[in-house]
Amino acid sequence: MARKKIIAGNWKMNGSLESNEALLEGIFAKIESNNSLVIVSSPFPYLGQVSELIKKSPISLAAQNVSQYVSGAYTGEVSLEMLKNFSVEYVLIGHSERRTYYNETDSVIAEKTKAVLESGLRPILCIGETLEERQSEQTLDVCAKQIDAVLNAVDVSSFENIVVAYEPVWAIGTGLSATAQQAQDVHEFIRKHVATHNASVAEKVQILYGGSVKADNSKELFSMPDIDGALVGGASLIVDEFVGIIKAAG
Ligand code: PGA
Repeated sequence: MARKKIIAGNWKMNGSLESNEALLEGIFAKIESNNSLVIVSSPFPYLGQVSELIKKSPISLAAQNVSQYVSGAYTGEVSLEMLKNFSVEYVLIGHSERRTYYNETDSVIAEKTKAVLESGLRPILCIGETLEERQSEQTLDVCAKQIDAVLNAVDVSSFENIVVAYEPVWAIGTGLSATAQQAQDVHEFIRKHVATHNASVAEKVQILYGGSVKADNSKELFSMPDIDGALVGGASLIVDEFVGIIKAAG
């Protein structure tokens, strides 16, 4: 069975009440019927606004992070139950910016992934190597280690509900996208790695590519057999770019 494509926009720390509305209205006006799942991931303060705006659209809502804890004395954190109040269905976990700037370790990321799954939401688990790691030919080892940290915390069957996003750190926000073949090679490796635990789950796991995806490089990426969509940063803030990527996914 063909895997459904996912186009997820990661707005990062961008937006305002005004610009969010303009962006979403622009997208609604330009997307016709499409077969892929479209997700937008807004900053926490705008989840309420965005969930209202997308109510009558086919777009789903993601948060960019969540606490691994249920509730309590965790100043500045946001819980899964709070996200559920705003119809959030997906949560980005382990984005490289969280790993690098906020010291999120593989074990914290595994805990968060587990908590998201237990709450009934779906994690978008971000993995990927740095430039140094790629240059020293550690790409596949790094991706395997990041996946294994999660496989140690949850059953492999959970990967039917985990969306994996392969995002080479050197390609994020740099304009330097991986080539479609470079991305495909890693996606194929990730799928085979999951298959060593369970082949039928591996066939179903949706693996997105992220890192400088634009309308004009998306079609080639999506033609690859193991690329099931994209996690889009900068281009998700520009109506024509984001809509172009959605259309490229078919
Ligand atoms: P980019 O970001 O598309 O701006 O490179 C991707 C991401 O960080 O998810």
